[in-house]
Amino acid sequence: MPNQPQAPDRNLALELVRVTEAAAIAANRWMGRGDKNAADGAAVEAMRVVLNSISMTGTVIIGEGEKDEAPMLYNGEVLGDGSSPEVDIAVDPIDGTTLTALGRAGALSVIAVAPKGSMFNPGPCVYMDKIAVGARGKGSIDMNKSITENVNNLADQLGQEVRDLTAVILDRERHNPMIEELRATGARIRLITDGDVAGAISTAWEGSGADILFGIGGTPEGVIAAAALKALGGELLGRLAPRNDAERDEAIRLGYDLDAILDQDDLVQGDNCFFSATGITDGELLQGVRFNERGGSTESLVMRSKSGTCRIVKSQHSFVKLSEFSSIDF
Ligand code: FBP
Repeated sequence: MPNQPQAPDRNLALELVRVTEAAAIAANRWMGRGDKNAADGAAVEAMRVVLNSISMTGTVIIGEGEKDEAPMLYNGEVLGDGSSPEVDIAVDPIDGTTLTALGRAGALSVIAVAPKGSMFNPGPCVYMDKIAVGARGKGSIDMNKSITENVNNLADQLGQEVRDLTAVILDRERHNPMIEELRATGARIRLITDGDVAGAISTAWEGSGADILFGIGGTPEGVIAAAALKALGGELLGRLAPRNDAERDEAIRLGYDLDAILDQDDLVQGDNCFFSATGITDGELLQGVRFNERGGSTESLVMRSKSGTCRIVKSQHSFVKLSEFSSIDF
């Protein structure tokens, strides 16, 4: 039976954009100043203040920061004004702390929110092996197949030659064998120094020139990217990748299946998740924060998986007015 038509309901993403905007502005004040933790701390605090103003009861399932012992929105922290809906929250106040601290391109502030109980909790698993593609490539990727097979299958599905494709991969020593194999396929490669949330989104982003993302990156970033790709109609597959025996043993003890291939529906269940990302530094997806005589401007990507609506929100913020009442020091 077809779904009953409904009136448009609340789109939380339109409120979450204020969260990532505030975090991006706060983080950008530290751009290029060489202090990752100060940037992260400013972004975290700004996020917390705005999140607490939203009508919801949200539990942080993914609060980035543990990996680097950086300031964080900690896992289990409850945010929002205490009213409904009850939701899970995944945050990365800065995806690209080093990029921000060095003033390099591509740092984003990101958040994903989904109904309570729907987000994958990575527990002790810091890293995840990932493959991501946009809507046109959906269905062509398989984690049990080699890089070469994945690239060939994607090219077939897109009706293009492998040499026309661009693969995105984090520039890390652990990826050297993958990069070698990718080079042998003839595909072109975009080696990114950080920021695989943006890397995953770029595969689904018209005009970015990226087709597929490979490689091991943060598990939190994997869950957040899964929420984004759900809204964009793309696909993300992941497999937990423990860093050492201790992490492997702990994950097994807690019941994690390290062989399981997780797709975006395992990482974020259901089809009503909300996503917002705001550029901190300039990137290929979004412009970074600019300061001007009126205050500052931001550019954000705001999406909801249920409707598939993707908005680019360009905002001008007046710091003079905000300073009259806001507890965030912009
Ligand atoms: P941070 O901003 O938290 O440092 O994350 C940046 C990032 O590049 C992520 O996008 C990526 O998932 C992860 O780090 C990769 O981890 P590592 O730098 O340890 O290889």
